Amino acid sequence: MNNKEVVLSGIRATGNLHLGNYYGALSKFVKMQNDYDCLFFIADLHALTTAPDPNALHENVRNILAEYLAAGIDPDKATIFVQSDVPEISEMYLLLNMHVGIGELMRTASFKDKARKQLGLTDDGTDIEKQIIGTDSNKRVNAGLLTYPTLMAVDILIQKAHKVPVGKDQEQHLELTRRFARRFNSFYGVDLFPEPENFNFGDHAVKVPGLDGSGKMGKSEGNCIYLIDEEKVLRKKVMRAVTDEGPKEPNQPVSQPVENLFTLMELTSAPEIVQSYRDAYADCSIRYGDLKKQLAEDILKVTTPIRERYHDIRNDDAFIARVVRQGAERARERAAKTLAEVREIMGIRKFY
Ligand code: TYM
Repeated sequence: MNNKEVVLSGIRATGNLHLGNYYGALSKFVKMQNDYDCLFFIADLHALTTAPDPNALHENVRNILAEYLAAGIDPDKATIFVQSDVPEISEMYLLLNMHVGIGELMRTASFKDKARKQLGLTDDGTDIEKQIIGTDSNKRVNAGLLTYPTLMAVDILIQKAHKVPVGKDQEQHLELTRRFARRFNSFYGVDLFPEPENFNFGDHAVKVPGLDGSGKMGKSEGNCIYLIDEEKVLRKKVMRAVTDEGPKEPNQPVSQPVENLFTLMELTSAPEIVQSYRDAYADCSIRYGDLKKQLAEDILKVTTPIRERYHDIRNDDAFIARVVRQGAERARERAAKTLAEVREIMGIRKFY
């Protein structure tokens, strides 16, 4: 275990997992656990930045734990833990924040996006900084949202991770993590943190599109196929996906909504099936209804076994408790070691 590269990744506890989470993250976790020293966690503290509902939070953590296990993460191979079970993360978050600029946090795309959403503003070209400073305290953007990238960097750096399997939307956060690691190492003249990289089995990061014709699949977009969607629900969602009127001439360019369906198909279906539909599009014989039926079928092949295991695992309190207790112990041991190094490096030493 010791010579293997360290892999760490997490998912926020904000609901159930969808195909975007699966192809961007979870499916990679399952494959990587055999070859790397892996830690996978549930980011409950990050969930508080946008959804501070105490009743929902705990249940959401349980959902994702059950989904990790149902998808095939093996607690004997990988460390599975809950972020808040490792208090060392919160302390190091405070320390790392001393090396992070407010400006660079404000320029993060996901911050601008979420801050505007929270304030009910549209992107009209006005600087977000001005929009935020002008708001009163009833309509606030919380400081936790601003420092989201610091917390994420700490999750990664405290475990000295080399590889961080995430979807395309998280690449900017990873870039910041590398910058913070470099900055810390060079400011103190140490070689403490490796610079972590995204990990993909193909050659580029995955962006799973939604079914509504535009953008990525995301919880707040309301365009998701969930791993635990019942068969009927899932088929209905796919059959309702946005398309267009169909190709009128051979080899016509593919519109965005239809390309999205092909992208989903490339993730779930066999290459020859995708090719046959691409060919049918090119010679104008394609029937979107058939494509959707095929797509739903192939998605169900992926999701059904996960859904079937999910409910049993979710109700097995003793098993879940065992997994996260063992995970917390392992994750804390490593985190405490790094935190002790960071404190020492920063000059925080005890008199007694
Ligand atoms: P979260 O919960 O937003 O997303 C979890 C993972 O799912 C991926 N993802 C997608 N990938 C492709 N296409 C999509 N449509 C799509 N939607 C979501 C995300 O890229 C992510 O990999 N900040 C992280 C959580 C986190 C974390 C960390 C990750 C906190 N600390 C440390 C890695 C390491 C996040 O937003 O997750």
